[in-house]
Amino acid sequence: MLVTGGAGFIGANFVHYTVRHHPEYRIRVLDALTYAGNRASLAPVDDRVAFVPGDICDAALVDSLVADADVVVHFAAESHVDNSLRDPEPFVRTNLIGTFTLLEAVRRHGVRFHHISTDEVFGDLPLDATGKFTEQTAYDPSSPYSATKAGSDLLVRAWVRSYGVAATLSNCANNYGPFQHVEKFIPRQVTNVLTGERPKLYGTGVNVREWTHVDDHNAAVHLILRQGRIGETYLIGSGDERSNREIVELILALMDRPTDGYDHVPDRPGHDLRYANDSTRLRTELGWRPRFDSFRDGLAATIDWYRANEWWWKPQKQATEESYRRLGR
Ligand code: NAD
Ligand code: TYD
Repeated sequence: MLVTGGAGFIGANFVHYTVRHHPEYRIRVLDALTYAGNRASLAPVDDRVAFVPGDICDAALVDSLVADADVVVHFAAESHVDNSLRDPEPFVRTNLIGTFTLLEAVRRHGVRFHHISTDEVFGDLPLDATGKFTEQTAYDPSSPYSATKAGSDLLVRAWVRSYGVAATLSNCANNYGPFQHVEKFIPRQVTNVLTGERPKLYGTGVNVREWTHVDDHNAAVHLILRQGRIGETYLIGSGDERSNREIVELILALMDRPTDGYDHVPDRPGHDLRYANDSTRLRTELGWRPRFDSFRDGLAATIDWYRANEWWWKPQKQATEESYRRLGR
């Protein structure tokens, strides 16, 4: 199994999960170790995983690795909306050219491909409604991040239809759990509290996200690899929707701080209001159920992980906050 982006948040958790639950796979990770990749995230499984430092846009390298694989699981991406607003170029390169490069290699070598994507490709939903995204929802991305992820999904679908590539796709809701970069919402607030900073809420904090534990996401990916229908898209989501404000207050409460101890900062331009996935297909066809059925417990465990693993996140914290300060957030 070739895992791209396996030194990032979800990819590293996927590698850990696979070693734990599917020891039949021999795993090779291809990762460029951008600012978001961390070799240390794979340290606990180093004896079980071959690590190849490299870029998914490097066609010769990708070709040689794909030629040697039975299956490719593609996590590598530029993944942060705020970064994409500041500089979209690496998003176009990695998310579009990188996915194209992988698709050409799996086409040449007849290798099974699974593409990891996001519900952000659908744009957003109104706050005052109960409707959810489905596999049939039209693409309507808002940010350079989601636009390049949408483009990469469409490339995968075209390579299935036109070239018969054996690919599946999944679009998951927001993930949380260990090894997530401190630029993202939950780790940023938790590590702010741990470093004596106040959590930062964009705008009024009414925006809603659906939160899925990273292990539940990765369990779904394994089900799709084994039993998913080729060419199909599967939406993944726990069903647990929360406003950002509710989450900041819950983090503060779980960390024994006053629940109003946070700052409002200027809103993100084009900020999507609400994301929510209808994951009926995954649940009925493949029998997926989230195991982390209490967000509060999952969040408390995640806070404990950041408390215990300062060595992992501390080196990135200062530079991340400096770049937020430059954005006024
Ligand atoms: P991340 O930013 O934590 O990790 C991305 C990894 O890809 C890093 O290790 C980085 O070094 C690597 N990478 C970046 N550019 C590369 C390149 N050109 N060549 C090789 N490696 C490269 O991202 P994440 O949060 O783990 O997201 C993984 C995937 O899941 C992405 O495709 C993302 O769109 C998708 N996704 C994320 C979420 C979420 O909540 N984080 C939700 C749904 C879907
Ligand atoms: P993020 O983790 O960037 O994920 P995404 O934008 O892909 O959903 O942000 C999650 C939500 O939290 C989003 O509505 C923006 C908001 N947010 C804050 O309020 N404060 C912050 O410091 C960050 C990083 C995000």
